[in-house]
Amino acid sequence: MCGIIGAVTESAIKPVLAGLGRLEYRGYDSSGISIVINNEIKTRKVQGKLKKLKHILAEQPLDGEYAIGHTRWATHGKATLINAHPHQCGQVSVVHNGIIENHLQLKQQLLQWGHILKSSTDSEVIPHLINHYLSLQMTQEEAIERTIRQLKGSYALGVLINGVEKNLYAIKQGSPLVISEGNDGAYMASDAMALGRDINKIYYPKDNELIKLNADNVQLCNASLNKKIHYVNNTYYENIISKGKYSSFMEKEIFEQVDLLSNAMSKQQASSYTAINFTKLNKITIVACGTSYYAAAVAKFWFEKYANISVAIDIASEYRYRSPIITDNELTIFVSQSGETADTLAALAYAKSKKAQTLALVNVCNSSIAREAGFFFEIFAGPEIGVASTKAFTCQLAVFYKMCIEAAKQRAFISHTELRKLASYFQLVPYLIKKVLKQSSDMKRLAKKLSTYSNVLFLGRGIVTPIAQEGALKLKEISYIHAEAYAAGELKHGPIALLDEQMPVVVLAPKDSLTDKLLSNIQEVQARNAPVFIIGDACIREYINLQEDEFFELPSIPESILPFITVLPMQLLALYCAQALERNVDQPRNLAKSVTVE
Ligand code: G6P
Repeated sequence: MCGIIGAVTESAIKPVLAGLGRLEYRGYDSSGISIVINNEIKTRKVQGKLKKLKHILAEQPLDGEYAIGHTRWATHGKATLINAHPHQCGQVSVVHNGIIENHLQLKQQLLQWGHILKSSTDSEVIPHLINHYLSLQMTQEEAIERTIRQLKGSYALGVLINGVEKNLYAIKQGSPLVISEGNDGAYMASDAMALGRDINKIYYPKDNELIKLNADNVQLCNASLNKKIHYVNNTYYENIISKGKYSSFMEKEIFEQVDLLSNAMSKQQASSYTAINFTKLNKITIVACGTSYYAAAVAKFWFEKYANISVAIDIASEYRYRSPIITDNELTIFVSQSGETADTLAALAYAKSKKAQTLALVNVCNSSIAREAGFFFEIFAGPEIGVASTKAFTCQLAVFYKMCIEAAKQRAFISHTELRKLASYFQLVPYLIKKVLKQSSDMKRLAKKLSTYSNVLFLGRGIVTPIAQEGALKLKEISYIHAEAYAAGELKHGPIALLDEQMPVVVLAPKDSLTDKLLSNIQEVQARNAPVFIIGDACIREYINLQEDEFFELPSIPESILPFITVLPMQLLALYCAQALERNVDQPRNLAKSVTVE
C-alpha cells in the first residue's frame, strides 16, 4: 500500500514530486525517486516524509525526461533508508506497491547467481531479476515478462530501464494502477488523483498487461492497446487536493458532511435499490474493515429493525478463513471507501468462488472491489484524503439507510406511516449535522481535558454502540490515546475492573429508548471515581453532575438517524484531542488510507 508514480515528459521530476505529495496518504515511512540523467539512472531516497526528499532535491536539483517515485508504508523490512524505494540494479530501477510472497525463494536464487541484495524488502528482487534476464540478452519486455511469471503475490510496478532504449514500464497484478496520456507526456500512478492537473484521460490496465511509456507514446506490449479511456475533470481534482481554510484534510472532510448529506438524497435515487429483490432474501452478510465495518454494524441494526432481514456482519480479514455458510437467498455486501482494501477484496473473491450474490458499496467507482462485485453502489463522498475516515462513513450510512427503506417497503414489514417517517427523518440529517458542527468549540474544550489522559473507555447502547466503537477507533488512530469501546451493558462483565481516577469514560447518551438503562451505567462509573464525559441529550444533566467541559449537548434526534448525528462529536473529539497533543492529523503514524496488503 505504497504510492507509486512515473512520468515521461520534458521535466519529469515536477509531476513525480507533486504526485508523491498526493500519494502520501498511502504511506509516508520513506520516499524516493529515480531519474535518467546523462544516460544514467540517478536515485535519491530518504527515510521519513516526502518533505525531506524535496529538501534534498531543492539543494541538489535533478531533472530529466524519465522518472519514477515512491512513498512507502513499510510491510517487509523496517522503515529505513536502505529499504526505501526505488530499488535499483544496474540500469533497472523499480518502484513497487504490493507484496511479493515468494521473495525469499527468489532471493535465494539471485544469491546463487551472484547478486548482492542490500535491503530486507520483498521488492528488491524485482530489479535484480529483470537485470539478470537482460544480461541473458532478452529484450526489455521479455525480461519483465519473465520476471513477472516468477512473482507470487500482488504488485503494481513502475520499471525504469535505461538501455539502448529508455523506457518506463508499468504492470499490475491485484494492486491499483492508472495510466494517463496527456498532451505533454505519459504517466502512471497508483491513483488518478496523483496526476492532478496534468491528466485529462486515464486508462485502468488489466492484470498483467505490460504497458510501455516512452517519449513517443503509450503502448500495450504484445497486443494492440484497445483502451477504455476515462475523461477526468482537472479542476475537480485541484479542489480536492487543497485544504482550503481548514488546518487538515480531516477537518475539511468533517465539515463537508453537511453538503454531502444534503446531496445524498438526490445523488443516489431510491430507484437504484429496486434492483435488489429484498423479498427473496432471507439473509444479508456485510463484510468490511475498520470504519466501514462500523457502518455495517449500524446497517445490521436498521435492516433487522425496519425490514426484518437477518444480518450477519463480518470483519473482512476473518471472513474467508472461517468457512462462512453462504446460502442461496443471501446477499453479501462488501463495504469499502477505497475499494482497494486487500482483506475486503480477498473476502469478495472468496464469496464469488462460493457463488454468492455480491454487492459492493464503494467511494471509488473504478476500484478493484467495484469492478469485481456483482454490482455496486457509489456512496458519493468524493475523494477522502485524511487517513482517518469521516465523510465516507456518513455517506456509507446514507446508502444503507436508503437501501433499508427500500427493503422495508418491499417486505411490507412496517406501516406506510412509519416508512414515511423514516424518509422524512433522513431529510433532517444535514440540518442536525450543521447544528452539531456549530458547537465545535464546546468539543474543543472537552477534548482539551480528555487529551490529558492516556486511556479512555467509550460506552454506547443500542444503535449508537457502533458509533462509540467508531469514536474509540478515531481517537486511537490520530491521537494515539489508547481507547476501547463497549456496549454499556457489558461494562459490568469485565471493563469495570479498569475504572479509577485515571480511566475516563466517554458516554454517548442521546435520548432514546435505552436512556434510563444508560443512566444506571453512568452511575456505576461515577461510583468508581472514574471521570465521566458525556455526549448526550440535555436531559442527562438533570441526573448527572458534570462540569461544563465534561458535557457536549446533542440536539433532539429521532432514533433511526442517531448514527448520522452522533458520529460527528466522535470525529471532532478525535480531531481536537490530536490537535491538543500536536499530532499530525492527516498522517498518523503507522497507518495508511488504503491498505492493499493482507
Ligand atoms: C484503513 C484506514 C481506515 C479504513 C480501513 C478500511 O485501515 O486507515 O480508516 O476504515 O482501512 O478501508 P476501506 O477503504 O476498505 O473502507
